Amino acid sequence: MSVTRVELAGRSYEVRVDSGLLADFANQCGGLLRKKVVPVITDRNVAMHWREAIEQSLRDAGHVPEFLVLDPGESAKSWSVLERVVNWLLELEVERGDHIVALGGGVIGDLTGFAAAIIKRGCGFIQVPTTLLAQVDSSVGGKTAINAKAGKNLVGAFHQPSLVLADLGSLATLPLRELQAGYAEVIKYGILGDRDFFEWCEANGPRVIDGERAALEYAVTESVKAKARIVAEDERETTGARALLNLGHTFGHALEAETGFSDRLLHGEGVALGMVLAARYSARKVLISQQDAVRIGRAIAASGLPSDVSSLGLTCSGQELAAHMLHDKKMDAGTLPFVLLRDIGDAFLDKQVSLEDVAAFLGEQLAAS
Ligand code: NAD
Ligand code: GLY
Repeated sequence: MSVTRVELAGRSYEVRVDSGLLADFANQCGGLLRKKVVPVITDRNVAMHWREAIEQSLRDAGHVPEFLVLDPGESAKSWSVLERVVNWLLELEVERGDHIVALGGGVIGDLTGFAAAIIKRGCGFIQVPTTLLAQVDSSVGGKTAINAKAGKNLVGAFHQPSLVLADLGSLATLPLRELQAGYAEVIKYGILGDRDFFEWCEANGPRVIDGERAALEYAVTESVKAKARIVAEDERETTGARALLNLGHTFGHALEAETGFSDRLLHGEGVALGMVLAARYSARKVLISQQDAVRIGRAIAASGLPSDVSSLGLTCSGQELAAHMLHDKKMDAGTLPFVLLRDIGDAFLDKQVSLEDVAAFLGEQLAAS
């Protein structure tokens, strides 16, 4: 088992990565579960495969698990589902010192975390991430949210979990495409801040995607360590350190918006393409070499992720793609900070990027595809 501590004054917590954590759930939680009743929020896909393990563990320890099983998908991050979750928790008489369990991917984690943040002005929660994306990114760092009409993740709170249990075994039932999408966030840590880890990903990405235990454990643990470091440095994204985690997200967001935030392009796939575009744009500005941009594209493609916008068959102009960026939640007083590269493993925040130049660049990329 690897254990990484997210160090935050008064709110530090552990991220444990191992196989078999679900079956050992009650024991892992120790004193965090102080009452008989334990509320667990999950979705139907996850419940089908993993409810039994956690339920058995809780029952064996003398608890009474209560499950709320939601429809899978992004639509659960809505006001109506949040209301349902909150009312259900209040009916269970959840108190501030109690812990709610989020068993699932980023959708369940974000929704449950936000419910925990607002119930009785904040109660505890435990993240049990079951997608690769959730294990390496969304379960760590305390960003919780639902979506609003105006955009994704616009209503939320910073609310840290008390414990994260990432069971590598749970990834065995994850559809391949979801595993690949999560891998985009893994390789992202290498590209943005750790050249050695990028090189490890270049050599071992396919082993991670094949579900090889040792490769998965290393990939998840190194990603969690990177995220924990960044969150400890800049919990509320105010100094620029945490903003580097948005590498690929601004370009990716435009592609996700153009494809209607649909199954045509999963979030991680948008991030993968976005990182390739960020690398090519960095090369265009002579910050990195063309060879390094090509190298990043190759490493991403080797894991089965899309690495060329042509795969999307878009018919829009560069201008139209760039226009989506104006609605990006990272817009700050009329400018949009871009995460660009000085080198593989050395990302920085550029607040001077001209959206017109980006539109011209995107036009060239679309024309070349
Ligand atoms: P998700 O939660 O929708 O899960 C993807 C799919 O996999 C769903 O259909 C789910 O039912 C299924 N699934 C989950 N675990 C499974 C398992 N073990 N076996 C079989 N099926 C399983 O998607 P996601 O990619 O995990 O998360 C995306 C969400 O995370 C988005 O809402 C995004 O905004 C959010 N996010 C949040 C942060 C953050 O810091 N809070 C960071 C990145 C992304
Ligand atoms: N996923 C980006 C962040 O946690 O800041």
